[in-house]
Amino acid sequence: MKKSILLLSIVSIMFAQVPDAPTVYPKGEVGKMVKLGKDIIMNTNTHPLTKEYVGNALKCTSCHLDGGKTKNLGTFIGTAAAFPAYSKREKTVQTLQDRINNCFMRSMNGVRPIVDTEASIAMTTYITWLSSGATMKMNEKKPVNEHFTKVWPNTKELTPLIKKANHENYTNGMNLYNNKCSSCHGVDGQGIATFPPVWGSNSYNTGAGLSKLDKMTTWLKHNMPLGNPNLTQQEAIDISIYVNAQERDAFDLKEHLLPREKMGYYNSKVLEEKHTVESNFKAFGLDLNKIRNDK
Ligand code: HEC
Ligand code: HEC
Repeated sequence: MKKSILLLSIVSIMFAQVPDAPTVYPKGEVGKMVKLGKDIIMNTNTHPLTKEYVGNALKCTSCHLDGGKTKNLGTFIGTAAAFPAYSKREKTVQTLQDRINNCFMRSMNGVRPIVDTEASIAMTTYITWLSSGATMKMNEKKPVNEHFTKVWPNTKELTPLIKKANHENYTNGMNLYNNKCSSCHGVDGQGIATFPPVWGSNSYNTGAGLSKLDKMTTWLKHNMPLGNPNLTQQEAIDISIYVNAQERDAFDLKEHLLPREKMGYYNSKVLEEKHTVESNFKAFGLDLNKIRNDK
C-alpha cells in the first residue's frame, strides 16, 4: 500500500500537468481588476493605461501565449505561487509585481511602470487569478513559473551545443526561418499584419530573455511555429542564432528606468547593465561577425 502511494506520487511529480485556467471571475472590484489586467496583457502596446510604457509592437500575449493561459512554457498558470522569488539578475527578492514591471524594460523595450498604477496592479491581479488553487512555493533560485523552473536554461546539455555553433548553423537557421517562420513574421523579420516583428526596433531588445540564445531556443521549442511547435533542439538552436544575430535595440538599464522622483523605488542591487547583439553572442563564446560572415 505504502509503496504504491510512493510510486503514484513519484509518477505524478514527473508528469506534473499545468492545470486548467480558472473560468469564473472573482466578484466585485477584484473581478473588474482581473478583466482590466487581461485586457492590458492582450493589448499592451495600444492599451491607454500602458502604451506610454511600451517601446515596440509587442503585447504580453506575444510571448505568454493566449494571455498566459497556454499550458506551454510562458504560461501564467501557477506563476503567482512562485513569488516572492530570488532573482540573480537584480540580486534581490522580487515580488510578482516587480517581475511584471521588469518585462516592460526588456521584452517590451520600454520603461518600467510605476508600482502604484492601476495598470500594474491590474496585471498582477489577473496573473494572480490564473494561479487560483495553486500551492504557494516561493522559488528560491529563479523568478520563474513553478511548472517550468527545471526546463529553463542554462541546461547542461544546451549550452555546449550553442557554444559550438558556426556559420553553417547561421545559414541553416536562415533557411529554416524562411521555410517555417517567414510566412507569418516576414522574410525581413518585421511581422505581417497582426503577426509580431521578431527583430528590429519594434521587437524585444538585447536585455530581454528571448535575446539570450539558450532562452530563445527553449521558448521556440515549446511555442513556435504557432499552433504546431515541432522544432528539434538543433533546429531551434539554429533559428535562435539566425534571429538573434539580426539587429535589435541595445539595452542600457538606465535608459529604461523612469526618474526616481516619478518611479519611486527600484528593487535591484544591480544598477548598471548593458547588452548588445554582439555581447549576447559573446556570452556563449561566439563571435558574431564569424557567425554571420564565415571569415
Ligand atoms: C518578447 C517576449 C516576452 C514578452 C513580450 C513578455 N515577456 Fe514575460 N517573459 C518572457 C520570458 C522569456 C520569460 C522567462 C525568462 C526570463 O526570466 O528571462 C518571461 C517571464 C515572465 C514572468 C515570470 C514568470 C514566468 O516564468 O513566466 C512574468 C510574470 C512575465 N514574464 C510577465 C510579463 C508581462 C506582464 C508582460 C507584458 C507587459 C510580458 N511578460 C511580456 C518573455 C516575454
Ligand atoms: C502561423 C503563423 C506563425 C508562424 C508560422 C510562426 N509564428 Fe511566431 N508568432 C506568431 C504569433 C501570432 C505570435 C504572437 C502570439 C500571439 O499573438 O498569439 C508569434 C510570436 C513569436 C515570437 C515572440 C514575439 C516576437 O515577435 O518577438 C517569436 C520570437 C516568434 N514568434 C518566432 C517564430 C519563429 C522563429 C517561427 C518559425 C519556427 C515562428 N515564430 C513561426 C505566429 C507565427
